Amino acid sequence: MERVVVYPGSFDPITNGHLNLVERALHICDRVIVAVARNLAKTTLFTPEERVELIKTALENNPRVTVEAFDGLLVDYLNSKNVNVILRGLRQLSDFDYEFQMTFMNRRLKRDVETIFMMTGYKWFYINSRIIKEVVFAGGSVKGLVPEIVCKKLQEKYEERQGKL
Ligand code: PNS
Repeated sequence: MERVVVYPGSFDPITNGHLNLVERALHICDRVIVAVARNLAKTTLFTPEERVELIKTALENNPRVTVEAFDGLLVDYLNSKNVNVILRGLRQLSDFDYEFQMTFMNRRLKRDVETIFMMTGYKWFYINSRIIKEVVFAGGSVKGLVPEIVCKKLQEKYEERQGKL
C-alpha cells in the first residue's frame, strides 16, 4: 500500500527548513502532499497561488510531491485525498503548545487521523517564515536560508514596498 502524508502549513514563504522536512519525509513515505492553507487568520505576504508556485519551483517538480492550496478544514482536505496522516515539523519547545492543540483538535474532528512530527534539520532550527520576512523587510539578507527563487521574490516584495513609501 502506498504511504502518503499531507504536510500542511502557511508556507509564507517556504524556507529551507520546510524543504529539509519534505526531503526527509520522502525517505519514510512514498508521496508527500504539501497542502498550502488559503484561509488563514493571519494576513500573508504571498497569495496562495504564489506560495504554491514557489514550493513547486523549489522542489523542482519532484514527481513524488504534490503541491496544492486548500480551503477550509485540514481534516476535510485529508478526507478528499483519502489520507489520514499529517506531517508537521518541530523546532524548539515553543512549537509544542500549538502543535499539541492542533493535533488534538484534528483528532477530535477526524477520529482516525494521525499526526507525525519530524525534527527540523539542525541548520534550520532557528528559522521560520516570520523571521525571514522580518529580516528582508529590515533590509537584511536571507541568502542560504530560503530557496533562491524565494530570495528573489522576497526582494521584489521588499522593493515594491520601498517604492510605495
Ligand atoms: O504553517 P502554520 O501556520 O503553522 O500552519 C497551520 C495550519 C495551516 C496547518 C493550520 O492553521 C490549519 O490546519 N489550518 C486549516 C484550518 C483548520 O483545519 N484548522 C483546524 C486545525 S486545528
